Amino acid sequence: AGLDAAGGQPAAAPAQAPKASEPLTILYASESGNSEKLAGDVAKLARKSGFKPKVVDFADLDLATLGKDKRLVVIAATWGEGEPPARAVRTYDALMGDGAPRLEGVEFGVLALGDTSYAEFCAIGKALDARLEALGGKRAYDRADLDLDFDKPAAEWIKGALKALAPPVSASDNVVAVDFARGLAADDDEAEPSRDPVVVEVVDHVNLNSSRSDKETIHLALAFEDGAPAYQPGDSLEIYPENDPQLVEEILRAAGLTGDEGLRSALLSERDITTLSATTVERFAKATGHAEAQRLIESGEVRAWIEGRHLIDLIETYPAALSAEHLSTITRPLPPRAYSIASSRRDVGDEVHLVIAAVRYETHGRARAGVASTHVADRIRNGAKLRVKLKPNRHFRLPQDPATDIIMVGPGTGVAPFRAFVQERRAVEAPGRSWLFFGDRHFTHDFLYQLEWQEALEDRSLTQIDVAFSRDQPEKIYVQDRLYERRRDLVAWLDGGAHLYVCGDAKNMAKDVRGAVVRAYQDVKGLSQADAEAAVAALERAHRYQQDVY
Ligand code: 2AM
Repeated sequence: AGLDAAGGQPAAAPAQAPKASEPLTILYASESGNSEKLAGDVAKLARKSGFKPKVVDFADLDLATLGKDKRLVVIAATWGEGEPPARAVRTYDALMGDGAPRLEGVEFGVLALGDTSYAEFCAIGKALDARLEALGGKRAYDRADLDLDFDKPAAEWIKGALKALAPPVSASDNVVAVDFARGLAADDDEAEPSRDPVVVEVVDHVNLNSSRSDKETIHLALAFEDGAPAYQPGDSLEIYPENDPQLVEEILRAAGLTGDEGLRSALLSERDITTLSATTVERFAKATGHAEAQRLIESGEVRAWIEGRHLIDLIETYPAALSAEHLSTITRPLPPRAYSIASSRRDVGDEVHLVIAAVRYETHGRARAGVASTHVADRIRNGAKLRVKLKPNRHFRLPQDPATDIIMVGPGTGVAPFRAFVQERRAVEAPGRSWLFFGDRHFTHDFLYQLEWQEALEDRSLTQIDVAFSRDQPEKIYVQDRLYERRRDLVAWLDGGAHLYVCGDAKNMAKDVRGAVVRAYQDVKGLSQADAEAAVAALERAHRYQQDVY
């Protein structure tokens, strides 16, 4: 059930309930689930505050109904290089286009989520905020643009927005309806898995690539001493990583600090000491008064300069004596990283399995490393502990009916949730067929879980597998090429009710795969491009085309 279905009276019920609760639409555009969770928070507080809230995913919005409720809260994430979350794209484009309804008489507030380490910070929230006004809506509360550490400012914004959106209470209404001060913490439902991370033990740590591969992909098994959380195939697990201790030393040295134990441990596990955003540079210049850093900001070249650079480059380029306090004001809290769970509880009991590719590259002559992935690859071994938290994803779910066929497209670590799907369908002896498209660089070095797929084919928990090894031949072959080659069967499965799942890279792969599915419809059914596009859009609306992309 959605969070909005929880209902219930406020704990400290007002003497009299509000006479008529004001309908409130809470519209969210979510990729990784943060906006969706906040939409649930808004609904909870709104209900306590005398509204009648309705939570709506952008993906499910009927645009014609927008504006029916005269109060509107929009929570929108910005993804990648300034794009809407994948599920929201169609409705977002429609809202930005000619077919959008007028919104006279509608009062709204927009909460924007983003990541300052990307150039177009909160672009989607900003665009929506402007658009709602252009359509005739009235901004009742100013937009907030929030970075990854959004918890506290989001709670503040929600309180403020609901207060601003509250209908005026006439003096004759003897109603004590609104108690904003109670905030969100009061009586959160217990249904949520856990608010705090738990400590787990690493019981398996294996590099799935051969030693001659240029990739390193770690299979990680984590044991939950007090029982694994009730996760489902499709869910993710957040890892709270630690920074590279060597990088901590470099930063201390560059800052001219010796680093007492408290500071060391804060830099190790609490602060984001890699990400460099324009905000970081601004805070740095302000804190240190460094004239050249100031000039960089004034020159308008900050965006270009931070490209490929990290915090250490800033501190080394603009040497300044930094106090421990400076370091904490210019950095943001170290965010956890979410990984799609690669196991089913029906198969692995109180464990969670993850597949994590070590991220390593070089920019500006310096070796760079993904924080969580190299923490796991380099500094974690069997017996080590990790802090983790379950992150449910109800938009990536096996069909309710186990007789429904499934098609899974997961190159590289995108295969993770499909290992969970296959384990689950084996455990429940699902009669539906399952078809996996896997891709990676080389058959001999990078065929993740090859033996497991073979076993699954033998016990029929996997019906068929198609593979695309991109670098085993002169020309690149990708999963979308295989999909298109198999277009007749693909369309036949989909016509028979199959669900299609795509997991992995959002920027290129997921788009190319969608394009291949559209072309498959065009070719097999002789449809125009527009009609094929509409057919795929219909699959998405019916939640039969689901993506877990990053
Ligand atoms: P490449 O590295 O040879 O380009 C898993 O990372 C696999 O996804 C690799 O084989 C990688 O190929 C491939 N890949 C890269 N870009 C892709 C794209 N746009 N669509 C599909 N697969 C892609």
